[in-house]
Amino acid sequence: MRDIQFQSELTKSDTPVWLCLNCHVPVQNQREHMVTGLYGNDVLRPQLLANPQYDQQMQSEGVTCATCHIRTDRNGNSFIYGPNGSRTAPHPVRQNRAFLHNMCERCHNPGGEAISPNLSCWFHTLDELKASPHFSGQNQSDCVRCHMPETPAVLADNFKHLPRRQLNQHIWVGGGIPKRFEGYSTLLQRGWSAGAEINVIDQGALQPEKRFRVTYKNTAAGHDWPTADPERHILTIARTLDPQNQEIQRQEYRIGQTWKWSPARKIGDNRVKSGELRSWSVPFTRADLSTAAVLEIHVIHLRLTAANMQFLMAAAPRINEDWLPNGKQLVRNAWRYYPAATWIYQSSINLRNGQKQIADRRRLIQMSAAEMAIKPADRIYWQQAENHSASQ
Ligand code: HEC
Ligand code: HEC
Ligand code: HEC
Ligand code: HEC
Repeated sequence: MRDIQFQSELTKSDTPVWLCLNCHVPVQNQREHMVTGLYGNDVLRPQLLANPQYDQQMQSEGVTCATCHIRTDRNGNSFIYGPNGSRTAPHPVRQNRAFLHNMCERCHNPGGEAISPNLSCWFHTLDELKASPHFSGQNQSDCVRCHMPETPAVLADNFKHLPRRQLNQHIWVGGGIPKRFEGYSTLLQRGWSAGAEINVIDQGALQPEKRFRVTYKNTAAGHDWPTADPERHILTIARTLDPQNQEIQRQEYRIGQTWKWSPARKIGDNRVKSGELRSWSVPFTRADLSTAAVLEIHVIHLRLTAANMQFLMAAAPRINEDWLPNGKQLVRNAWRYYPAATWIYQSSINLRNGQKQIADRRRLIQMSAAEMAIKPADRIYWQQAENHSASQ
């Protein structure tokens, strides 16, 4: 509920808000209203009933502990589901590890059809996993293995009799684009690393017209790279610079899905499958490279296009500030608060002596965090194709 883009999307006239909340704020106590039906069978006109058990604090937590861990039985008694059970917990516990592990599918791989023409959160990450070499045959247990990695810890601080043992970290670090710029400071600590290994290969005299090649090997992700939100994409920018570091030319390569909207329809998808090795030959000619001093390669994971950042900010006057405190201000200036992209690879090659400098992960995070001070129109990843729509 504190996600700037999410709140901006909720203000669109064709957004079925209640349906979005079903995955983003799914617990009954989190909802001001319960949906009892639809007027005229129209998904945009739900019949709403005030919910006496509504808890605003809990609503603001979004996908929270109760989402995965608490269920009520037929008699109205609620239980905490845990993987190991407990006789000493100060609350009722039921043991069901599979229940917890199978949870991810509900939101990350919903079944059936998306019933709204513009609903884009209809992912198939589990289906992608099933086609991956990482798939162990145990469905979502694999999601937990990678996204909630084990570490030795004590289950609860104030219960000293509890042994130290392997526990699953509840961090769910994904593609590495945090919700706010502050999030960059903890990204490494939370175990972030990109899903693909990236290399730049000098093909030299073998390929004079396409001398440099960028390779992407999806080694670490158990699903397509990138997965989920269809807007996410990986942009590679190759550019030549003169001795004063001014750009001479650039070439771009995009990895991701392509959609048409109203009604939503996927028209292209060149994501890198789990285990796949992809390669892009940078289409600079021998002449292009001989006049330049430096070749720079940037590989950037984007959550938003420039046009959509613009749409997002335009929603400011309509933001519901009960849901997002100070929301109008945050959305109007979203480019300063909401990271749009994270660098996952950057190198520069001196074309005179062949020396290559590759940015390490710390440097990549620094570059990504520094975007906070850079206006949309000046950002390297929004300069070429879309600079017309990126002025602030
Ligand atoms: C079937 C469950 C489901 C429904 C329904 C759903 N979402 Fe999502 N949404 C998710 C999941 C899971 C993610 C996390 C995956 C991701 O970020 O790519 C997500 C992520 C997002 C994000 C973050 C994207 C980013 O790049 O960080 C936004 C914004 C969003 N949803 C908006 C909406 C809106 C608006 C609706 C209603 C039209 C909606 N969602 C309905 C499951 C759902
Ligand atoms: C997206 C689902 C999800 C959410 C949200 C979630 N958990 Fe978990 N939790 C799990 C899964 C899955 C496991 C089981 C890991 C395993 O196999 O042991 C787990 C395990 C645990 C355990 C370990 C129990 C044991 O005996 O090892 C505790 C304690 C726990 N969660 C507490 C919490 C708390 C507190 C929150 C909120 C801050 C929370 N969880 C939010 C999915 C979730
Ligand atoms: C009730 C719906 C729901 C369930 C169940 C759920 N998720 Fe999510 N998940 C979401 C939503 C919504 C987001 C996006 C939050 C946002 O972007 O604000 C998300 C985000 C994520 C992300 C981070 C994406 C990013 O870009 O950083 C990962 C990884 C993830 N979930 C993994 C899991 C795993 C693993 C499980 C099962 C243990 C699980 N989720 C269960 C709804 C759910
Ligand atoms: C083999 C390890 C592995 C498995 C298994 C796996 N993931 Fe991931 N996942 C990753 C990595 C690594 C990334 C980061 C990829 C990147 O660079 O964007 C990721 C990214 C994500 C993202 C964020 C996408 C984005 O662009 O930010 C979501 C959501 C997600 N995974 C959900 C899931 C779910 C749900 C499952 C189970 C169906 C799952 N993952 C299984 C390793 C794994």
